[in-house]
Amino acid sequence: MRKILITGGAGFIGSHLVRRFVKRYPHYEIYNLDKLTYAGNLENLSDIENAPHYHFIKADIVDGEKMLELFREYNFDAVIHLAAESHVDRSIDNPMEFIMTNVVGTVNLLNAARAIWKGNQERKRFYHVSTDEVYGSLHDSGAFTETTPYAPHSPYSASKASSDHFVRAYHDTYGLPMVISNCSNNYGPNQFPEKLIPLFIHNIKHGKPLPVYGQGLNVRDWLYVEDHAEAIDTIFHQGKDGETYNIGGNNEWKNIDLIKKLIEIMDKKLGRPEGSSLSLITYVTDRAGHDLRYAIDASKLKDDLRWEPHMKFTEGFEKTVDWYLANEKWLENVTSGSYQEYYKKMYDHR
Ligand code: NAD
Ligand code: TYD
Repeated sequence: MRKILITGGAGFIGSHLVRRFVKRYPHYEIYNLDKLTYAGNLENLSDIENAPHYHFIKADIVDGEKMLELFREYNFDAVIHLAAESHVDRSIDNPMEFIMTNVVGTVNLLNAARAIWKGNQERKRFYHVSTDEVYGSLHDSGAFTETTPYAPHSPYSASKASSDHFVRAYHDTYGLPMVISNCSNNYGPNQFPEKLIPLFIHNIKHGKPLPVYGQGLNVRDWLYVEDHAEAIDTIFHQGKDGETYNIGGNNEWKNIDLIKKLIEIMDKKLGRPEGSSLSLITYVTDRAGHDLRYAIDASKLKDDLRWEPHMKFTEGFEKTVDWYLANEKWLENVTSGSYQEYYKKMYDHR
């Protein structure tokens, strides 16, 4: 029996990962530790919450004493660490929260793992889930490899870069067994509607303006969330100790092209005249420090662990739109209350 701690399991990617592990590995005990911030929602896991080998722990990774206590109590064999503040715009507004959760929280988990695994590190693993944003921004060509120097620009990416460095430092200094993956932008069901795709689905549906930052020329590489969960599963089980793996979708889109594609799909699904939602596009002040382009070279993962994304973008994108249209209640729940204040604060002055 392996006891696996997954942090941030009530969030977007974490919930897909928890579901995958609960379904595929009935011989594992899965502990989902989450603070349930605005981005964490246990409704995301209602279909598996009663599985006998699934357990939820409400806790804050910033509380170092608590992390140590939990490691003592449960004696986890492995950690897959996803808990983080994850939205760039929020990090620009409030960097400190990102430093606390993403840096201090990660170091608290490293300390707890180190203390409890000391002298017995065999078959232990600390898996840190990170982002391609740590590598900074690309121009028109090239792609990030695992050896691209770190050059973060936003408080979010700087905090993730810092946490990556700490994970490697604990490996090199204390011999803590670890792997890291750096992944491109994810899309799919259950993503909080502050991020581009779910926000724009919501706004198109309700005929609200679509706030395109700058000229919409920034490029992102989009990966379907279940493909990311599968890649994490592969790296968790087969990745080599001390290694970093880049995960990408081979699927680059200029924001404005992605938005037009989304409008085309949604106008059709909502029975509106073709292109009628194009009028919702509103160019607004650019994001400060906005990275122009991200692209991932994921050949190491393909060559070493034989993993590649499966989901075709056209299919994944339609599936995503269908999910949001069918789950109006979910959207309503997460966009009520404090979300309204956030939206007003972020977009009213742009
Ligand atoms: P998310 O914001 O949807 O979820 C984050 C989860 O962490 C939430 O459930 C939240 O409640 C929890 N959390 C936040 N602070 C916490 C704390 N102090 N203690 C305990 N739990 C806390 O994020 P996501 O998009 O699912 O991203 C998950 C991870 O993957 C993050 O580490 C992120 O950096 C990384 N990542 C995300 C993407 C992406 O496109 N979304 C791409 C690459 C990497
Ligand atoms: P986002 O989903 O926030 O992910 P990230 O910043 O981590 O890549 O944004 C994706 C892209 O969309 C990014 O270039 C910023 C842009 N964007 C907008 O143009 N308008 C918006 O309202 C949002 C949220 C993002």
